[in-house]
Amino acid sequence: MLYSPFDCVILDGTVVTAADVGRYDIGIRGGKIALLAPARSLATARASRVINAEGAYVMPGGIDAHVHLSEPELFGKGKSADDFTTGSRSAIAGGTTTIIAFAPQGRSDPSLLNILDAMQQKASNVTYCDYSLHLIISNPTRQALDEFKVLRERGVSSVKIYMTYEDLRIQDNQILDVLLQSRVDGITTMIHAENGDMLNWMTEQLESRNLLAPKYHATSRPQILESEATNRAIALSQLIETPILIVHVSSPLAANIIRTAQTHGHPIYAETCPQYLFLTRKALEAPGFEGAKCVCSPPPRDGEADLESIWKGLQNGTFTILSSDHCPFVYEDSVNGKKSAISEDAPLGRFKYIPNGCPGVETRLPLVWSANRLSPQKFVEVTSTNPAKLYGLYPQKGALIPGVSDADLTIWYPESSALEPFPITNSALHHNVDNTPFEGQMITQWPRYTLLRGEVVWDRDNGGVVGKEGYGQFVERGRSEFCSEQPPWDVEKF
Ligand code: URP
Ligand code: ZN
Ligand code: ZN
Repeated sequence: MLYSPFDCVILDGTVVTAADVGRYDIGIRGGKIALLAPARSLATARASRVINAEGAYVMPGGIDAHVHLSEPELFGKGKSADDFTTGSRSAIAGGTTTIIAFAPQGRSDPSLLNILDAMQQKASNVTYCDYSLHLIISNPTRQALDEFKVLRERGVSSVKIYMTYEDLRIQDNQILDVLLQSRVDGITTMIHAENGDMLNWMTEQLESRNLLAPKYHATSRPQILESEATNRAIALSQLIETPILIVHVSSPLAANIIRTAQTHGHPIYAETCPQYLFLTRKALEAPGFEGAKCVCSPPPRDGEADLESIWKGLQNGTFTILSSDHCPFVYEDSVNGKKSAISEDAPLGRFKYIPNGCPGVETRLPLVWSANRLSPQKFVEVTSTNPAKLYGLYPQKGALIPGVSDADLTIWYPESSALEPFPITNSALHHNVDNTPFEGQMITQWPRYTLLRGEVVWDRDNGGVVGKEGYGQFVERGRSEFCSEQPPWDVEKF
């Protein structure tokens, strides 16, 4: 058969989508998937570039829906260290082609639109991968709520709210305001579920006993603090009858509560992250102040049984998506980084001042793919297709539909030339920080190529990051596939 020329063909890959696995050739034209054809049938097709993917898994590019870049000081002391350039560079090197970052509303900002403008300005023309933004709502004024409609018009269809952090947390009545407006405007609400009052009280208890080292970060945030807030968030969502997504779930107790709500038919979605699949409290107990590298919230939990339980939740569908919660801080930085928690009177630091967050946008896919715990389809579902569906990017992203989907692809090494197991080392990563919580973790796979809209942007064996800063585009998002249109909420129903 004669085909008009392609910009690129990928030959004989094991092509994986959330639904299927099969051996195909892929033809790419104009940045889109143009054709999926039987393996080797495009071997003689004309193309500017040919990639032989014989025996290699070829998947829709990763979508990381939880990435903090260029944000001000919000999560305790310190400022996250990646901007849109360094964070997105790290993303493509790890097989991720689209990220959703955050635009945080300040406590005293009555409006959201200037916040969105400012963040778009920071990202525009400097980003290696495609990107979108969630609005963080910390001051749900009438004006801000009325602007949800404008967010939708501007292609932003999700907001995040917090139940903890002094600079961000909102009260239950305000959460209800946000949920009601989200229902009206078709916005997906992400909720950071930890009980802020319990946390403050626990922190006072530990501080008064001079228990200050990094490991007490985990002690200050026991599972009950996450499960209580999760339960409350679900109750609030049930009152408004609107879907929510609980972000970065670490607690098996919280996961069980989510599972129960789902089993009862409530539209509750959940996210987990690699740190809750690979790290335990032990990581926070590293000598000296080293444990600070793994301080994130919610914290890594106690032991192997907790990790197992989170893996189970991924396998059985309790977790809809797997994101990184990339929130990097420089360890050696005493002003804006992890070491800002160290003072003369607390040489091992005070856990309550350790900036919360870890880098992970680059290691998310390699860690989880190497673990070999998810079927290929499940892996694509939770790392690409479901984030696309949940956040209104599907089927432009997260799919390989000819004529429809962007040619965003992650291509792994073929089994036949499998890499020897090797450790993750920070020196090999492309973010802007001096640490990874996964240092030394053994893996067996890394993306060989990443393609974004048909262009090779990562070629591990031939130049590494070969994409261009500024090639990444803002992607306008629509309504979530998981958030169908609803009639007006009826106050008399309850
Ligand atoms: O510790 C974390 N997770 N830092 C990032 C902020 C957040 O709440 O996602
Ligand atoms: Zn959070
Ligand atoms: Zn986060």
